[in-house]
Amino acid sequence: MVTQTPAPTPVSLQADGTWEPTSWRALPAAQQPLWPDPADLEEVLERLATLPPLVFAGEARSLRAQLAEVAEGKGFLLQAGDCAESFDDLSANSIRDKLKVILQMAVTLTYGAGVPVVKVGRIAGQFAKPRSSDTERREDVELPSFRGHSVHGFDFSAESRRADPERLLTAYHHSAATLNLLRALTKGGFADMSRIHQWNLEFARESGECRRYEQIAAEIDRALRFMRACGIDLDHEATLHEVDLYTSHEALILGYEESLTRRDSLTNDWYDCSAHFLWIGDRTRQVGGAHVGFLRGVHNPIGIKVGPSTDPGELVEVCGLLDPERLPGRLTLIARLGVQNVRRVLPDLLERVRASGHPVVWACDPMHGNTFRHDSGFKTRRFSDVMAELVAFFEVCRDRGVWPGGVHVELTGDDVTECLGGSEEIEDHHLERRYETICDPRLNVRQSLDLAFQCAELLRA
Ligand code: PEP
Ligand code: CO
Repeated sequence: MVTQTPAPTPVSLQADGTWEPTSWRALPAAQQPLWPDPADLEEVLERLATLPPLVFAGEARSLRAQLAEVAEGKGFLLQAGDCAESFDDLSANSIRDKLKVILQMAVTLTYGAGVPVVKVGRIAGQFAKPRSSDTERREDVELPSFRGHSVHGFDFSAESRRADPERLLTAYHHSAATLNLLRALTKGGFADMSRIHQWNLEFARESGECRRYEQIAAEIDRALRFMRACGIDLDHEATLHEVDLYTSHEALILGYEESLTRRDSLTNDWYDCSAHFLWIGDRTRQVGGAHVGFLRGVHNPIGIKVGPSTDPGELVEVCGLLDPERLPGRLTLIARLGVQNVRRVLPDLLERVRASGHPVVWACDPMHGNTFRHDSGFKTRRFSDVMAELVAFFEVCRDRGVWPGGVHVELTGDDVTECLGGSEEIEDHHLERRYETICDPRLNVRQSLDLAFQCAELLRA
């Protein structure tokens, strides 16, 4: 049987249709690692290009459809995970525990606010980091800043910080292994609503947040028993037994993304098959830059980080390049403004984007604008600032009649002490106890759940 191939949709292509996965190479690419030998890099990229895609185009399209609902105010995006995944932390427990927190947050939001929650992990590929400074100095030694495990090691030595393209292959295989377990857990019974109590993490079980979660879980149990008693057949209701968890990372190292970009056999469109959702960071969103130039040609849903220095006119221009057809669900704008900037900067951005007619999702990343270096040397964030930015985001959105469509956070399923405050009152001198991130400070389990409860209240208000 011959199936007819639909004509490629011209989304994101230039008027002359000349986009290719390699087109970005003619444009200035910010934040690329300094690979010692370009020939070695190209050899690795060629090998990557022969490996299977990590995700399918159809999955990216499903996510785009769900985000289209969010853009219309009929859903909420929860995007969460590590700042930087680590090659040294690829274990079943760590993946499962991150998933548990995300599932708990999603249940809290769905139940508390009564809206469907679209779940996207910063997971299975979040291995590359942009940096404000090219080098890092410790006493008399100056070395390249840490750019993620897909580039080099974290240890502060010349040997470790030497960029090695073979690491891109390791990043691919780690992503594949992570995604494999996530697919098994989300589709194989672990994410079944009947196991909702088991998502509480043992070490936090007695905390106020976990008890509050337990109450919700008990209410959901009761509602399910009631529906069963009414004769409703819940066994065949797939949404009660499986979860869709999509993957995402910052599309930073463009050679890697190029190698995993494939044509969808069904539509003939290009998709970056390294993850379902890719975002452009605050440092790489330039109109004429290679990151925008690359992502305009792939059909995945795309995020753009929107920092306090964003010029509204330029943002609209970038939206025009990435979403010429004004396709709902194509673009998610992730405001990461810092608590002190939201009320000053966000209103104009919301208005200008609205006037441009792009049906975007507006989400809030309350983490990246609130980072500071503590006297002890640790990079940290105050939970109170994180919450205050989220509150301000909701207020400004509501004030302007824009749906506050999502939250984007850095978290872990471990009991770390990286962000200050929260109900367990992590204080300055606690930071050193369990400061384990290899990049930015993450919310721990209790702080993450607390944020979800407060976010559900904001959504309900
Ligand atoms: C990040 O999300 O880890 C990050 C670096 O964000 P931003 O580009 O917003 O600074
Ligand atoms: Co970060």
